[in-house]
Amino acid sequence: MDILKKLTQIREEFHRAAGEARDLKGLESIRTKYLGRKGELNSILRNLSSLSGEEKPIVGKEANVLKKLFTETLEKIKQEIEDKGPSEEIYGFDVTLPGVPPPEGNAHPLTRTLSRICEIFVSLGFKIMEGDEIETEFYNFEALNIPLDHPSRDAFDTFYIRDKYLLRSHTSNVQIHLMQKQEPPFQVIMPGRVYRPDAVDASHSFMFHQVEGLMVSDNIRFSDLKGVLLLFCRSMFGEDINMRLRPHFFPFTEPSVEVDISCIICGGSGCRVCKGSGWIEILGAGMVDPEVFKAVGYDTSACTGFAFGMGVERIAMLMHGIEDIRLFFENDIRFLNQFR
Ligand code: DAH
Repeated sequence: MDILKKLTQIREEFHRAAGEARDLKGLESIRTKYLGRKGELNSILRNLSSLSGEEKPIVGKEANVLKKLFTETLEKIKQEIEDKGPSEEIYGFDVTLPGVPPPEGNAHPLTRTLSRICEIFVSLGFKIMEGDEIETEFYNFEALNIPLDHPSRDAFDTFYIRDKYLLRSHTSNVQIHLMQKQEPPFQVIMPGRVYRPDAVDASHSFMFHQVEGLMVSDNIRFSDLKGVLLLFCRSMFGEDINMRLRPHFFPFTEPSVEVDISCIICGGSGCRVCKGSGWIEILGAGMVDPEVFKAVGYDTSACTGFAFGMGVERIAMLMHGIEDIRLFFENDIRFLNQFR
């Protein structure tokens, strides 16, 4: 009986198609093809009258069995697709695929070093103040007791703009602005950019960063300076760091010192980084010179204080073993990506 063979063929084709269905759209076209009004099964049922009396009930019964089977199969597959959640069907792509992560940025190594320095002093009760990079000779030199014949006032050592304006050569200028605005007691750090017309090489840049510190009250002693700096050095470089002070000269502090830490690479035994000495210089400091207090109109008999200044690049280079200061400013992503 040809017509029964045809039904078997329809059944096989249906199962193949249904097995390959991946989404609801595909399923719907299978339903239309086999179960639709003009579909394969209905056209056979519609033509039953043309069959012989013997064939009619057999074919009719078989066609109806298939109808039920196809309906149930399609319903089951539909359920399976829906259970897998929304798919390409709705979104046009497979939402279960892992995403493409966007490239993640990270803070510049100088920003990170500066943040760490600020964090340590803020935890000690220091406030943060920023000053201008364009400055007058008064704030950059005179008020800081730097005399006219001091070498740092030479045009070779400072970027002059015009007349008395210049790019500040250190952050010490902010000390003066601060003290003109405020009476003691206070403790403040002053981070920022400074400029010097140095030829650029592995250890010099015409622009770099400093952090200035100033603490003034009625009874600040040298031991306070030493205590604050030791605490800073150990928080920044490690608890087993030693610190030593060497007498030095700065016009704005008296007495003045240069501050060394025991070499963070060799621990003090001597290596290439500390040039065999076991010590590394990291900042300048001292007790505020009364001439500076005079310049801002403070009563010199009633206030004492300490000040310090450090270079941020130098500290970042030490901490990360960076050997060329230019790397900080070249924006080479291969360098910057190492600091995460
Ligand atoms: N201004 C100095 C410089 O640029 C650094 C410095 C040394 C700042 C001693 C200070 C200080 O406040 O007390 O080299």
